[in-house]
Amino acid sequence: MSSQIRSVLITGSTSGIGEATAVAFARDGHTVYVNGRDPARTRAAANRITEAAEEGWGKVLPAAGDVATAEGVRSVCEAVPELDILVNNAGIYTETPAFEISDEEWLRHFEVNVLSGVRLTRHYAPAMVRQGWGRVIFISSECALFTPKEMIHYGMTKAAQLSVSRGFALWVAGSGVTVNTVLPGPTRTPGAEEFISKSYPDLSFEEAERRYFQSYRPTSLIQRFALPSEVANMIRYLGSDEASATTGSALRVDGGVVPTIA
Ligand SMILES: NC(=O)c1ccc[n+]([C@@H]2O[C@H](COP(=O)([O-])OP(=O)(O)OC[C@H]3O[C@@H](n4cnc5c(N)ncnc54)[C@H](OP(=O)(O)O)[C@@H]3O)[C@@H](O)[C@H]2O)c1
Repeated sequence: MSSQIRSVLITGSTSGIGEATAVAFARDGHTVYVNGRDPARTRAAANRITEAAEEGWGKVLPAAGDVATAEGVRSVCEAVPELDILVNNAGIYTETPAFEISDEEWLRHFEVNVLSGVRLTRHYAPAMVRQGWGRVIFISSECALFTPKEMIHYGMTKAAQLSVSRGFALWVAGSGVTVNTVLPGPTRTPGAEEFISKSYPDLSFEEAERRYFQSYRPTSLIQRFALPSEVANMIRYLGSDEASATTGSALRVDGGVVPTIA
């Protein structure tokens, strides 16, 4: 896609959608910063992608730090002084009955899923505006549009990302910087696989997937998990020069699970 080499940071890219996104941008020749909380795990992810790289792939470098804390964000920003594309992907999800979600669990979800992206956007977007080009992409969820009964704290954070993203898009309007949100649906990441195997311990993944979609996501038009690479394709597009007229938007990669057309 974009011919110019860009610098890309993807938070939470030691696994799942984040790692697939790091691969997609590296394949396009961009310099990619991989992030996770643990330095060794982050280095291992960067090395894994580098070892799989083919001719023409960009450099993949580690930028460890817990983006749920101001201190962690500071160390990431020190490791990544200049940035063209920011992907706010780091996210957590726990299943807790609504009346049992503690203050700490509400706040933890807010800090990891929302405040991390706010802090990083506040740091990097002004410089993107000054250089006249930039991309900020928040990774939300289909749960932003219909609150999951078993994870209302998660749904709250994913809905909040839509407002935050739209709000920052207003502030960078006309500068060459775009801000958008991607809403993945159920995606086959290690986190999702663990969730499914705990929910259906006696079934094969394929059978558990079939039951899960029948019971919990009957509106899905594909009746399967998306692959992380399928979500990464949309993120990669939004990060490209070609996506210049798309800003302040929320784009779904949800297999049609949300039963509205737009
Ligand atoms: N999988 C799905 O079905 C699905 C559906 C819709 C939306 N999403 C969204 O997509 C995003 C990625 O989900 P996923 O399923 O790919 O995740 P995952 O496989 O569980 O991986 C989560 C990633 O986030 C990192 N992380 C967690 N807390 C962090 C923190 N405080 N600071 C830095 N990194 C942190 C983890 O790294 P370390 O453990 O190495 O720190 C890991 O790389 C999330 O925002 C999620 O809400 C996922």
